[in-house]
Amino acid sequence: MFPVEELARDERFVRMKIEDAILDPRNTTMKKERRSNLTPDIAEAPDAARALMHGIFVGEIQALEVAGRTCWDFPTGPGRDEAPFALKLDMARQSWDEARHVEIAIKLSEHMGTAIGEFAEQTMLYEAGCNADPVLRLTGVNRALEGLAIDVFNTMRDFGDTTQDPVLFFCEDWMLADEVTHVKMGSDWLRRITADDPERRKGALEFQRAVDKLFSFGGFRGEEDENPVHLARNFRRLAGFSDEEITGLVEISAEAYAEAQASRDAAIAASA
Ligand SMILES: [Fe+2]
Ligand SMILES: [Fe+2]
Repeated sequence: MFPVEELARDERFVRMKIEDAILDPRNTTMKKERRSNLTPDIAEAPDAARALMHGIFVGEIQALEVAGRTCWDFPTGPGRDEAPFALKLDMARQSWDEARHVEIAIKLSEHMGTAIGEFAEQTMLYEAGCNADPVLRLTGVNRALEGLAIDVFNTMRDFGDTTQDPVLFFCEDWMLADEVTHVKMGSDWLRRITADDPERRKGALEFQRAVDKLFSFGGFRGEEDENPVHLARNFRRLAGFSDEEITGLVEISAEAYAEAQASRDAAIAASA
């Protein structure tokens, strides 16, 4: 696997660990009943939206990197350690889409009053997409990571709508259409590759649940008012998620949120 430390980044990029962000003392003092800071009528909303846009920008770079790696890391073929040529073609198409999304995210960042490097980069998306098994790679990248992109874009699109920003709304709407396609490719390939191997499919779906729990970022994604990003159920259905899978995802997000709150409570108790 290509080591995360060697990804191409210039001096504008600053990295931080995801756990440092979740357990940041400024967040641990946040009231539980507080609404999401992406609610337009609260004072932090513009900065929260800029931070999320920067997160989308680095997420797009990492999505480009992992989709591109899938074309390169596996020999072409039908075997267990190989990736079929048509799958690689889909990943190449996705890389092209993600490159375009990176450009759009940079322009949207300028539009929203921020710039590359104003916020830190976390590389968990890339790291979760570094599995040596092609099917686990596919579920990690095209079902978990790209699924998260659907939820985030849907949230940002709604934010553009409520704040009456047609540029933001339009861009998010179009990128959302691409992300639904990326998840649909993942859903279709997962079914195709594991058609005669129920054990392998089961293992892949378990791996996806583990990654989805990580990608709920301790309450960043969930169904409550205070979770900034909600599950985009309709778009997930369009992308091949069953209702049962969506319900499972709701439970995983709630678990991740409860665990993060317990860690924060422990951190507060320890500092007191
Ligand atoms: Fe994207
Ligand atoms: Fe994507």
